[in-house]
Amino acid sequence: MAEIGTDILKAKTLLENGELVGIPTETVYGLAGNALNVASVAKIFEVKDRPFFDPLIIHVADISSIGAYVENIPPLATKLAMAFWPGPLTLVLPRKKNIPDLVTSGIDTVGIRSPAHTLTNRLLRELSFPLAAPSANPFGYISPTKASHVNDQLGEKIQYILDGGECKVGIESTIVGFENNLPKIYRMGGLSIEEIESVVGKTDVHLHSSSNPKAPGQLQSHYSPKKKLVLGDLKKLINIYGSNHVGVLAFNELQNGLKPNHQRVLSPTGDLIVAAQNLFSYLRELDQLNVEIILAEEVPEVGLGRAINDRLRRASAEIGR
Ligand code: TXA
Ligand code: MG
Repeated sequence: MAEIGTDILKAKTLLENGELVGIPTETVYGLAGNALNVASVAKIFEVKDRPFFDPLIIHVADISSIGAYVENIPPLATKLAMAFWPGPLTLVLPRKKNIPDLVTSGIDTVGIRSPAHTLTNRLLRELSFPLAAPSANPFGYISPTKASHVNDQLGEKIQYILDGGECKVGIESTIVGFENNLPKIYRMGGLSIEEIESVVGKTDVHLHSSSNPKAPGQLQSHYSPKKKLVLGDLKKLINIYGSNHVGVLAFNELQNGLKPNHQRVLSPTGDLIVAAQNLFSYLRELDQLNVEIILAEEVPEVGLGRAINDRLRRASAEIGR
């Protein structure tokens, strides 16, 4: 198992030696390596069992460091970074040649963001290179929101996990690319479309779901528990599947006739920010219960609710599993 701690110097030394480290961010935990070191980047793909066609995001301390890695930055990208960095926003921008092909799967853009987490931000300031970091889960599984989640799944393969507590946002960053200098949303995430539009006006959503998408986080089946997850009206689903062998993920209220410990309520007060924080750890808990199937319901399709529903739909998709 990996060592879990808050020793930034230790994380720094490992990263400088080409090793990988689990890092906290406000969205989900990342599996980080030196983005400019091809061998480290290759290790990330190997440890995650991730296909090479799925490009990585690079992480920087702040906006002042991006000029070293990207160029021809559209004015609206700068505006978004000024408004929301550090924060749950990834910008897809034309990359400079120092970013290895392996990071971007050979395409000419790179995803870049400045995470809002004190520990990781301090670590980034100590380093002379950006960190490539996908979510620290095996490819296709639920993303980790606690250090222990990382240890459970990747602890045999890495030495150290920086413990930054529970992720405050709990859902991956929103990915924004630019076509003809206009922003397009490639992945819904921890920054709501409403917040983005408050700064740049109406934006298009271009989620990709083919087998070779611009953002494979948009693969139809992704973020999935091991158990089958069925999405719909909970009362109807409980009628169909019975109440004995099911776990339930509800939005704001417990369901009748089912053991309370087989249920998780995302937010009893119906707060979508709290629901996003709890989503992945509750899915994990339900996946570990002695039940055969997970029943879940959608949440209101506003603000972070859109990203939550996006994850639930992908978790329930069976295509491509
Ligand atoms: O919140 C997050 O973004 C977390 C934390 C650790 O920062 N990271 C994360 O990384 O979710 P990952 O690798 O699990 O998801 C990154 C997504 C992938 O779906 C990938 O396809 C997309 O970003 N992506 C990366 N580079 C891209 C690019 N140049 N163009 C389009 N999509 C890109
Ligand atoms: Mg991921």
